Amino acid sequence: MPEPMVLASEERGSGPVLLFVHGFPLDRTMWIPQLAGLAKIRTCMAVDLRGHGLSVDDNPGDYTMDLFADDVAKTLDDLGIEQIDIAGLSMGGYVVFSFWRRHRERVRSIILADTKAEEDSPEGKAGREKTAELVASQGLEALWSQLEGKMFAANPSEDVKDKVHAMFQNTAPEVAAADALAMRDRPDSVADLANITVPVLWLQGEEDQLMPVDGARASAEKIPGATFVGIPKGGHLATLENPEATNAAITDFLKK
Ligand code: MLT
Repeated sequence: MPEPMVLASEERGSGPVLLFVHGFPLDRTMWIPQLAGLAKIRTCMAVDLRGHGLSVDDNPGDYTMDLFADDVAKTLDDLGIEQIDIAGLSMGGYVVFSFWRRHRERVRSIILADTKAEEDSPEGKAGREKTAELVASQGLEALWSQLEGKMFAANPSEDVKDKVHAMFQNTAPEVAAADALAMRDRPDSVADLANITVPVLWLQGEEDQLMPVDGARASAEKIPGATFVGIPKGGHLATLENPEATNAAITDFLKK
């Protein structure tokens, strides 16, 4: 496994740190509505996973969710931050599950968004290999064409779509391929759900086509005391599509 690295990050606000981990194949800028809306209650810090955004990786490959989690821990060490509230969307949620398994003493609370605890099925794993081949041979635009119709709730705003499209365009094919293979190999997190001992908020877009809301609710029910909130007018990127409902739910959760 490559050595952990210090990640690029962007922060706003003051007080205890709420750290955000982005989804695939995106970057920290997907969390700007949360940085803007939650800075009054936390130091909101969004990281770029290795290879993404400003976290330059000259030799992408051999990525794992554990490596991503260790990168987050190294970044906290570098900044002298002991404990965090940690939020992750989709692939970012997979990183949060790894972070919980490997660095739980640093976790004050967990926010999961549009993610799932189950590992990939055999067909899903084969699909990851196709994704890795697709981006390596045809680039991220080909992946955008496949996913554009599935990522958002009905009638998505052009602004949100443009922002997500730009994040796809800013991600190198080698990085997206390494992400896809890392997701293929991620462990199942279902058995961890009952053993999470910190407060958890699980947000899922009510119109998430990639990870339907009912499956997410069932997983959240396995976490002792977890709060589940369906985000109306939210698809797979509910935090961006409906930041008002997202930020209200996070504010309520963190105030408790
Ligand atoms: C993501 O948004 O990070 C991906 O949809 C995760 C996945 O493909 O499992």
